[in-house]
Amino acid sequence: GTPHIPVITVDGPTASGKGTLASEVARRLGYHYLDSGALYRITGLAATRAGLALDVAHEHTIARMAEGLPILFLDGRVILDGQDVTDAIRTEEAGMNASRVSALPAVRTALVALQQGFRKLPGLVADGRDMGTVIFPDAPLKVYLTASAAQRAERRHKQLISKGISATLPALRADLEARDARDSNRSVAPLKPAEDALLLDNSQQTVEESVAQVLQWWEQKQAFP
Ligand code: DC
Repeated sequence: GTPHIPVITVDGPTASGKGTLASEVARRLGYHYLDSGALYRITGLAATRAGLALDVAHEHTIARMAEGLPILFLDGRVILDGQDVTDAIRTEEAGMNASRVSALPAVRTALVALQQGFRKLPGLVADGRDMGTVIFPDAPLKVYLTASAAQRAERRHKQLISKGISATLPALRADLEARDARDSNRSVAPLKPAEDALLLDNSQQTVEESVAQVLQWWEQKQAFP
């Protein structure tokens, strides 16, 4: 194990701003960053491209794909089997497909070692749904990030529009509520706060305010472990 290597986990529902918060905290601390959702998104994409339906009938085939994913994280780009899939894994459809494969227990198991391998010195900030509950249960600081569904839909809307992708608010909100429901109700590693998680609702906060909050919690943990 690697219990001496610090790790901060940031879990929460779809579009709560986990990625923005976690990657910025990692940058400030000079820590590594794990976007665990990207691994499920890549698995969903690889399985879809292989022509597989994303359901239990193919659970073990998809799990084997997840175990041997030919991926490379290079300068902020994601390369799958030599092809740049950075944008392809960010669509709403890719998110929904990720949620589907992530509900398959064998797929989750297949990705455990890969995720834990990101825990390297000087430290790691990991975001996802089960970072504090399953993957890094001994993390000294666990954050559970929430925001209202209305806020999250609005942020996602702005994000997509700024990328020139058209989307409507009601459709986005319905989408993220469906994804939250699937992620929260699955039998293995459902989305929920770890018992020792600190709750952060960023509905009324700027990114800078939530980053400052997490950094302050981290300093307190260091001072009074
Ligand atoms: O964080 P995200 O939107 O990129 O995640 C995409 C999907 O992957 C999410 O709907 C559920 C799944 N996921 C998961 O089950 N466990 C994680 N640690 C991260 C993501």
